Amino acid sequence: MTNQTVNGDSQPGRGSLDRLAEKELEALRRKGLERRTRRVEGRAGPRLRVDGREVLMLAGSNYLDLAGDERVLAAARAAVDEYGGAAGGSRLINGNLALHEELEAELARFAGHRAALLFSTGYMANLGVLATLAGPDDAIVSDSLNHASIVDACRLSRAQTRVFRHNDPRDLERVASGLAGFRRRILVTDGVYSMDGDVARLAELVPVARAHDMIVVLDDAHGLGALGPSGRGTAELEGVEVDVAVGNLGKALGSFGAYVACSETVRSWLINAARSFIFTCGLAPAAAGAARAALQIASAEPQRRKTLHERAEQLRAGLRDAGFDTGASTTHIVPAIVGDNARVMALCEAALERGIYAQGIRFPSVPRGTERIRFTPTSAHKADEIAFAVRTFAELRSP
Ligand SMILES: Cc1ncc(COP(=O)(O)O)c(C=O)c1O
Repeated sequence: MTNQTVNGDSQPGRGSLDRLAEKELEALRRKGLERRTRRVEGRAGPRLRVDGREVLMLAGSNYLDLAGDERVLAAARAAVDEYGGAAGGSRLINGNLALHEELEAELARFAGHRAALLFSTGYMANLGVLATLAGPDDAIVSDSLNHASIVDACRLSRAQTRVFRHNDPRDLERVASGLAGFRRRILVTDGVYSMDGDVARLAELVPVARAHDMIVVLDDAHGLGALGPSGRGTAELEGVEVDVAVGNLGKALGSFGAYVACSETVRSWLINAARSFIFTCGLAPAAAGAARAALQIASAEPQRRKTLHERAEQLRAGLRDAGFDTGASTTHIVPAIVGDNARVMALCEAALERGIYAQGIRFPSVPRGTERIRFTPTSAHKADEIAFAVRTFAELRSP
């Protein structure tokens, strides 16, 4: 005990843990895969300070520019004034606020489902949904490019996970045909693929799933608020109904948290079985209040969606003209696929120096060989700002 100090290294074991951590980091460094955080200052919007430099923010998920909207912030403040800083406990004990239930009713109406249940994050919503719907006797069929939280949710559920080729209804048919022996079969797919910006072909995938008596789960983190005539997301755009839709409050809706839209009965099942709902604190009042206001604005101001897609199209067309491969993107997520770790990070850093922040994305976020710069414009970006970004990347590509 005598050699324990608050200063760490003289504590038995601590030094060796640091050595272990350093070895692991060094291995990542050697592969060009070490990550670090960037320091962001200023209120959410199209321009921010990143690592001390003012830049055009093309790396966020504030698609409708609601995270800094005065009305959204006023609603967050009002919720704090009324309820305080925290829900103060889990939903099943003392943390089930009237505010949560009001937001859930509004989200259900917006999403076109009978009910909705809030989760603290989209990650936790996916864990809760899939680990509730599926167990060891079941099969989950998952798109090969589904988000990491879905991959982890499949693992947590202990179901048999079968992966089908990205966005390929014929391959879904092939996989689904071999699942007759399972108790339940579940199709899970992203709505908008977060690294590629393509849209799940739900109009073709869902009929295949229905023909094989599958439950359909959609993670529409990036589609909600941004796609579909009324902003309901990918299912609205593709004209299909899904059984369970996970939506995200921390992207187009400019707040924090997530929800699961479903039937009343499924909501009750989740309340009783989803461990990532049961064993965690209810959503903070500020986040719930902000989301209510954002939802209202997202519905009432469709012009935001229109501008978002115009800016995305301008960016995509400009990058293509400059010789970049923008892959399958048709939405507000626009990759410029470079295919090399070092080159992609060098491009990202050089762009930052010239006042543009678009994130370099490497393995494991994307498959090796498809490393890319990922651009995410918002409805608040001006056409001349997008033009500046295109010009800058065109120059950086061929200096
Ligand atoms: C497709 C998808 N699902 C889920 C999540 C997780 O959402 P959250 O950030 O609320 O945990 C993300 C977030 O990046 C995502 O892109």
